[in-house]
Amino acid sequence: MTDFVEKASEKIKKLSDEQLERLVKNVREENEVYDSIIQSIPSGLVIVDKNWCISKINKAAKRYIHFFHLHQVKSEPVWNLIEDKEVSDFISLCAQKHNTNTSEEFSIVSADEKARFIVVSILPLVRNGKIAGNIIFIEDITAKRQQEILVHRMESMKSLTSLAASVAHEIKNPLGAISIHIQLLQKSIKKCRNGDGMLPDEKFMEKYLEVINEEIESLNKIVMDFLFAVRPLKADLRLYEPDSIIKKSMDFFMPEFESSGIAVSVRLQGNGVRLLIDDKLFREIFINIIQNAKSAVLSGKKPEGKIAVNSFLKDGQYIMTIADNGCGMDEATCSRIFEPYYTTKADGTGLGLTTVYKIVKEFRGDIAVNSELEKGTVFTIQIPAPQKNTMLLEE
Ligand SMILES: Nc1ncnc2c1ncn2[C@@H]1O[C@H](COP(=O)(O)OP(=O)(O)OP(=O)(O)O)[C@@H](O)[C@H]1O
Ligand SMILES: [Mg+2]
Repeated sequence: MTDFVEKASEKIKKLSDEQLERLVKNVREENEVYDSIIQSIPSGLVIVDKNWCISKINKAAKRYIHFFHLHQVKSEPVWNLIEDKEVSDFISLCAQKHNTNTSEEFSIVSADEKARFIVVSILPLVRNGKIAGNIIFIEDITAKRQQEILVHRMESMKSLTSLAASVAHEIKNPLGAISIHIQLLQKSIKKCRNGDGMLPDEKFMEKYLEVINEEIESLNKIVMDFLFAVRPLKADLRLYEPDSIIKKSMDFFMPEFESSGIAVSVRLQGNGVRLLIDDKLFREIFINIIQNAKSAVLSGKKPEGKIAVNSFLKDGQYIMTIADNGCGMDEATCSRIFEPYYTTKADGTGLGLTTVYKIVKEFRGDIAVNSELEKGTVFTIQIPAPQKNTMLLEE
């Protein structure tokens, strides 16, 4: 409060009309200053009264969170006006439990349709030594989170060195074959120059050229696969329900499994949780693992092939397991499956699980495998469900 306003309000009854007018003008100007400060700060600010009805809200808050029916701010508690269910439930729960001085992290799709990470804090609003309401403070931590994702990417860049070593190894064989066949051709050309001048038998030349061509094709494939493996993932992270992606993919693949005589059981208990993922990339994870499970079952010796897909929530993590009773793996194989180009299949690229690993890391998740030769394999993928109130869903 300015000195003038403070002094004037003490002597309000003795003020002349002119002085009153000045007082009102001063108060209004002061209010405007405070209001412009509140509106200009980059963090979201919602001030609520004792009944949790909004008394002030700034632009940033509206940018981060979808509010509806803003004309009813005076009569509705703030959680009834917030579209995002997780944020709304969090505030309502805090109000119920008188739990202020608390904060929670959320991933949301903000009003400008961008995926954002925000922290919502609830602080008590103290006036004249008494609690007069609450301040809801919304902070955008997307840049911080993106930095973390970048660090993950850098880590995966490190694995590029091992990828380069694998490529060098892969390239060596076709290059060797090409070199030998060119030497053979050179020798026969030299021989013909020194002899009767006739070129060697047509079939003989063609055979060598054919081998060279095949090897060049194989080199081309190695380079293409390499580019595929190192291409940076373009993850478009939004909130998606993983269970529904699995269900849709399963509907698509079920006939294929049925016709191969594989019994597939699917139990999805993610309770509708939404994760910050890329739907296409999540589908890619699932398809790669389920296809591997299928070929493991088909090459296994069990009379009845089985695959089980499960999902559930645990400690704020979404867990998906894909188990099969196929051929399984020994320890040596198991330790190499995420390496680029590692395959035990005649027609495999060995890049399926490398891609899966890259995607899981992009989602800030983890992947584990448990396998026993001739018994079967379980792949477990966990992805953090950023809304801490997944605890509610778990209950
Ligand atoms: N469920 C499973 N059971 C047994 N072995 C598996 C299983 N999943 C993966 N593997 C082993 O891991 C290897 C690497 O798998 P990855 O998906 O990376 O490549 P791939 O399946 O061989 O080739 P592609 O994915 O291109 O078809 C496989 O060749 C196989 O030996
Ligand atoms: Mg595969």
